[in-house]
Formats: sequence, C-alpha cells, structure tokens
Amino acid sequence: MRGPQAVLSHLSLRNFRNYSELDLELGPGIFLLWGPNGAGKTNLVEAVYLLGNRRSWRRGGAAALCRRGTTEAVVAGEVFYLSDEGKGIDARSGDHRVVARISARTEMYLDGRRGRIKEITRHFPVVAFAPDDLDLTKGSGEFRRDYLDHLGSRVITGYSAAKTAFDRALRQRAAVLKAAAAKGRADMSGYESGRSALNAWNDEFAQQAAGLLVQRLKLYEMVRPALEEALVDLDAGGKPEVAYLARMERPIVADLWEAARSGDTKAIAEEYRDAIAGRLRDEISRGTVLVGPQRDDIEVRIDGHSTRDGVSQGQQRLVAVALRIAEARVLEIQTGRRPVMIMDDVFSELDDSRRERIWEILDSGQAFITSTSDETGRLTGRRGRVFSLPIHRLAETGSSAKTVRAKTSFQTHSPSQGDLSDGAPT
Ligand SMILES: Nc1ncnc2c1ncn2[C@@H]1O[C@H](COP(=O)(O)OP(=O)(O)OP(=O)(O)O)[C@@H](O)[C@H]1O
Ligand SMILES: [Mg+2]
Repeated sequence: MRGPQAVLSHLSLRNFRNYSELDLELGPGIFLLWGPNGAGKTNLVEAVYLLGNRRSWRRGGAAALCRRGTTEAVVAGEVFYLSDEGKGIDARSGDHRVVARISARTEMYLDGRRGRIKEITRHFPVVAFAPDDLDLTKGSGEFRRDYLDHLGSRVITGYSAAKTAFDRALRQRAAVLKAAAAKGRADMSGYESGRSALNAWNDEFAQQAAGLLVQRLKLYEMVRPALEEALVDLDAGGKPEVAYLARMERPIVADLWEAARSGDTKAIAEEYRDAIAGRLRDEISRGTVLVGPQRDDIEVRIDGHSTRDGVSQGQQRLVAVALRIAEARVLEIQTGRRPVMIMDDVFSELDDSRRERIWEILDSGQAFITSTSDETGRLTGRRGRVFSLPIHRLAETGSSAKTVRAKTSFQTHSPSQGDLSDGAPT
C-alpha cells in the first residue's frame, strides 16, 4: 500500500531569481517546462525544491536566490495529498501552506508558523534529479556525506541537532590542532604541548562524533536496501554492493552496529577515543583532524568495482539516479507521503529502459521536468502539461507590468502526443 501523493496546487514567487512576481496554478500530473537556455526553467523548479528542502541543490547561499538588486525573496506553495482508495477514486486531503522567506538565510513556515525542516518535509517531500548529481558518484566523499546528512535531517528526529553539535566540536578540535601544528613547527615541542591542549577537546569530539555516527548508521540502514533495490531495478550493470566506510580504528562490524542500533553512543565514543589515540601524532604533525564521521563515505560497488572510478560514465549516472530514487523511497516510507519529483535537464540523457523505470516512479504522481527540447514531450510519451518559457514572451498580453500570472504568461505548447486540454489558456 502506497502513501498518498503530495501535490503542489499553487506556487507563488516574489523576487526569486529572475522572477519578480509569478503565480502559477498547478495540480497532479507531469509538468514539462520547456524553453531555451537561460529561460528560467531551473529557477522555477528550484523554487519548488526549496519549499520541501529549505535549501537549493545549487551552490551559493540563500542570498543568491534573491532577485539581483533585492535582498528578500518569498516562495509560497499550497499543498494537498491524493490517495488512491483502491477504487480508482482519489481522495483529497490536507491543504497546507508552505512558505520560504529568504534573505541572508531561509526561514520556513508551515500554515503561518515557523517550521523545522523535518516537519516541512513531512508535509511537502520533494526530490530533485539534477545534472550535478554525477558528483554523487564521481565526486569526493563530501557529496555523499551531504546526501546522507540532508536526507537524515529531513527524516530522523535529532539528526540535525547531532550534526550541528558535531560540527561545532569538529571546528573547535580542528582549530586547536592547527594551532598545535603551527607551534610545533616553530619550536619543535608541538607534540607535547599539542597533546595537553587537545585533551579537553578529544573527549567532546569523541562524544559528538559518536552521536552523529549513530544517526548516520540509522539512516544508512534505511538507504541501503532502497539503494540496492534501485540499482537492481535500473540494471546498473552487475551485482551492486553498498557499504558505509567509517573513519575509525576498525571497520563497523557486528558489535558496533549493535551499539549504533541501540543508540549506545558511549561504546562508540570509546572507539573514537581509541582511534584518536592511535592517530594523534599524525593529527598534530599535519594539523588536521584525521578521525571521525567528517571523513566517512558510502561506497557503491558494481561487480566488485568502485563506481567512483571503476565503471562507465553511463553506469555512474545510473548510480546517481539510484541514489535519488532511494532518497524518494526513504522519504515516502518515513513521511508516509510520496514526494514531488523534479528532473532538471536529465531526462533526455537516459535510455529507454531507464526512462521507463523512472516513469513508474513519476507516473500518477506530480513531477516537473525541464528541457531545452520539446522532444522531451514526445520522449515521455505520456499525458502532461507543458509550459513554454520564458514568461516575458507573453507578458505583454495585458497583465500589469510586475504581476505576471500563469494564465497569461504561460503558453500551452502541444507536442504531438499527450493530452494538454487542461493546460493554461494563452
Ligand atoms: N538572483 C538572480 N537574480 C536575477 N536573475 C537571476 C538570478 N539568478 C539567476 N538569474 C538568471 O536567471 C536566468 C535563468 O536561469 P535558469 O538557470 O533558470 O535558466 P534555465 O532555463 O534553466 O537555462 P538552461 O537551459 O541553460 O539550464 C539566467 O539568465 C540567470 O542569469
Ligand atoms: Mg537549467
């Protein structure tokens, strides 16, 4: 039995990226945003993503999201849920309002009250596939840690707090190590003085590292089966294996898993203390923290080969897609709602059978697909609504200069297939 589908029924933007003012009527189904480079396609789906994630998948802080020359932006959405009652009738429930107020940082509101990210995601889960996702496979461990931490903060209570506490302990310990290394180079006594200065920080670090690792492993136990299933479904090219690589003295074997599962942070902190003791000399001489979850990684192997460098580019893309499918699956299980899906520029790069698999996930839900080619409408071969961008093409059709409404600013564009009858009139 699948959970109800989250549906964005209305989107409004104020001073977001290149949009000064835009109101868009939406609903269930597939939306194809089609237009030339620079038309504003990614910006539009980025706004949808922001509503469920508080952040963008694109680099640059909150300030970059505000329209140039402005310092505040607002993205607001109306959300409801559709559940299939098993009789072919969709039951509608919900009706929540999610708002992102963006200035130097982004604050989220749910039905008028400030909302934590986990609460926001529970009401409006959103997953995006973007071209940069290839970094999830090819890039450094930083990308995969961020994948885990962002997902963890959306589905596990206490994850964000554990991450924040760990980051603070890491910053403090790193600063002391750096100072000790500099001193050591100056007077050769760095090791001894560094060691005593560090004593106080090691303990705090070990505890917070254990706190974060327990949360990470909890999350990893959700991601792993979903990821392995997605890799098999996508036919990534062989037998997939997934592993969590922890930067401590020994690999995470049975007893450590047990400790993590039962939330026994004490036992894990003890492991970190041992690991620190073993690496302290190195840490002081290099002036950097070598032990801890800030260096962990998840490894995906296909037929024993690391997907970071041992498989084809196409397989690397499939692994990245599989990570997003796993994310959607974990969100669905944990929030009880099927997420809204975004595919920015990536759909046309997949082959037929993979596209088919993705369609099974997108179909009957709500999805936004961007493309520079109206061919994508044909590629999908499904029903959907098409918005042709940029909006200013139609802005002169009578609407006031600043307020550009979807009905007048978006044009329905008819690809050769598909039922577009409910698209916005031009
Ligand atoms: N903060 C901002 N203020 C104003 N304009 C912005 C801001 N950020 C980005 N833009 C502009 O918005 C325009 C549209 O960008 P967007 O990334 O949405 O294009 P796109 O349609 O996805 O293009 P492509 O097909 O190349 O991916 C760009 O010309 C960009 O310079
Ligand atoms: Mg784009």
